[in-house]
Amino acid sequence: MSLAEFEPPEQQVAHFPAEGLSGEEVRERLRAHRAADVDWRSGRIWSLVYSAGPEHDDVVHDAYREFAAENLLGPTAFPSLATMEKQVVWMLLDLLGADPRTSGGTMTSGGTESMILAVKAYRDRARAERPEITDPEMVVPVTAHPAFLKAGELLGVRPVPVPVDHTFRADPSAFAAAISESTILGCASAPCFPYGVVDPIEDLGAIAASYGIGLHVDATIGGFVLPFARELGYEVPAFDFGVPGVTSISADMHKYGYGPKGSSTVLYRDRELRRYQFSAYTSWPGGILGSPTILGTRPGGAIAGAWAAIVYEGKAGYRAIFTEVMKATDRLHEGIRAIPELYVLGDPPVSVFAIASEQVDMMAVADRLESRGWWIDRQRDPDSIHLIVNPTHVPVVDEFLRDLGWAAGGAPPAGSTDGGAALYGVSARLDASTDVEAAVLDQLESRYDS
Ligand SMILES: Cc1ncc(COP(=O)(O)O)c(C=O)c1O
Repeated sequence: MSLAEFEPPEQQVAHFPAEGLSGEEVRERLRAHRAADVDWRSGRIWSLVYSAGPEHDDVVHDAYREFAAENLLGPTAFPSLATMEKQVVWMLLDLLGADPRTSGGTMTSGGTESMILAVKAYRDRARAERPEITDPEMVVPVTAHPAFLKAGELLGVRPVPVPVDHTFRADPSAFAAAISESTILGCASAPCFPYGVVDPIEDLGAIAASYGIGLHVDATIGGFVLPFARELGYEVPAFDFGVPGVTSISADMHKYGYGPKGSSTVLYRDRELRRYQFSAYTSWPGGILGSPTILGTRPGGAIAGAWAAIVYEGKAGYRAIFTEVMKATDRLHEGIRAIPELYVLGDPPVSVFAIASEQVDMMAVADRLESRGWWIDRQRDPDSIHLIVNPTHVPVVDEFLRDLGWAAGGAPPAGSTDGGAALYGVSARLDASTDVEAAVLDQLESRYDS
């Protein structure tokens, strides 16, 4: 008997199975699990998955599989992985304008880990060099990714929020005003997730330098698309190590680098700062442990896959990918301009942006789009829907624009639904609630318990 024949996928293996299934049954069951997943290959979702197409993905997934068992916890056992990690970091430093003689970095498992590690580096350097700071702070624009807040919580660094101006970019004078005697770093985004706009990095870098603090630029999304879009002639604001005052950058492989999930980089203008990212444990009976990142075991597949993505594409390949992505973005912008109810928020330079309206209810627009099979990310402040464009979207731009026009045309007036809170990373929102935080925690619990 096979469980798969009798139980719907969500109930399968609720108990530890007494017997295993055959390999073929496992594969079948995996496919069954997938039945309700969004069809990302046909471009129906505008977030979460970044794909440069089946040929690219095959190369990356083969590399992942090739090294799925290997572990960079042991760089002497697997010098292959140590070399590939080093090369990925060097290639990114090169792409982002760092001096190869003095800069450095590491790979990590994602944007969040990269940002936590950067905050750790600044905190531990401050502990060593500015011991008078007992309550360290970091200056964080409100549009920056919550990973900075998570880093602050974990590391005991208090985030001091900075408002954005009418272009949704961090306000430099507010940024300067938020710096205190206890500030150990400033943070900025290139671009920020919600609006896709790049903070005024040159201004923020100059301010940070004048106060003698570091500036971390979160280019988790932008690390690849910004430099290549600039090469293609798009107007892209300065954001990388070419800007004085930028002292570290996070840049994901698993977003627009088109590496496998679980791959990112954290990069430092000066290697001395990276040293504070590292940890050393010297009195454990299991041996002396030197740990460069947060993870213990470091999956070989993520490193090999990231390396494969870059060497497979080279600059020419990424240029071709982003030519397609930016052309699709241009067509989307043009189409949105032709829909009278809608407009794009701010002036996003690349392929991440939000669509809003003064006239119609954007949550209803999202609902209507979903009724036509699109997976839509909702945002608040102001109500908007969020798009990240990838090659998977090239064939569906016209269909999406048609559906978007239809959705806006039939949506009720702005403000007619109850409000409520949009959930990041989830195509859903909470009902209006007096205690949104508790409701979010309830949702997380029920995801595991029901
Ligand atoms: C701007 C930005 N920073 C950081 C992150 C966090 O990256 P990850 O989800 O890889 O941890 C994201 C994720 O979307 C992001 O958009």
